Amino acid sequence: MEHLRVHDKEFTPYLSEKEIQARISEMAAQINRDYEGKKPVFIAILNGAFIFAADLFKNIRIEAEISFIKLASYKGVKSTGKVITAIGLDVDLHGREVVIVEDIVDTGKTLHQFLPQLEHNHPASLRIAALLHKPDAMVHPIRIDYLGFTIPNKFVIGYGLDYDGLGRNIREIYQLVEKP
Ligand code: IMP
Repeated sequence: MEHLRVHDKEFTPYLSEKEIQARISEMAAQINRDYEGKKPVFIAILNGAFIFAADLFKNIRIEAEISFIKLASYKGVKSTGKVITAIGLDVDLHGREVVIVEDIVDTGKTLHQFLPQLEHNHPASLRIAALLHKPDAMVHPIRIDYLGFTIPNKFVIGYGLDYDGLGRNIREIYQLVEKP
């Protein structure tokens, strides 16, 4: 693998396709064990998680459902901060075993705002599967139940993750080269 240029930035290989796939199959094996006989519903968050969700789900051997949502943030009428809403949630989560599938937990802000809204649907359980996590960027601590890789606080692309729209189709994960 060689350096890659996307828009104005340079990226260097960080995780190979083989490493990613091996880790995902381990994560799926754990989920298969934990949810045996429970028929969980996976909720994958678009856009970033679409490739991870597909590969994870292909390795799920138990009965399971999957649905995809998009999170939209808008300025609340009263609150000063942004409010996040889910678009496209077409499954009744009441009483269900729910697994959120996210590409990367960075500051934790997205899930910190979104999880309480999901709790309102009274799922039987709510767990998070994330491929990547940057603990050094964490502002809102989130418990990640199934984690692929802990990575340094550097911008990454590939495997569903983009830099300004590009890079999602790269099969590996690349890290930004920070110029001094
Ligand atoms: P958080 O709310 O800061 O945890 O951010 C989560 C979202 O930010 C992820 O779902 C990604 O879409 C995006 N994101 C965070 N870090 C990166 C990165 O290094 N590369 C690409 N997207 C990222």
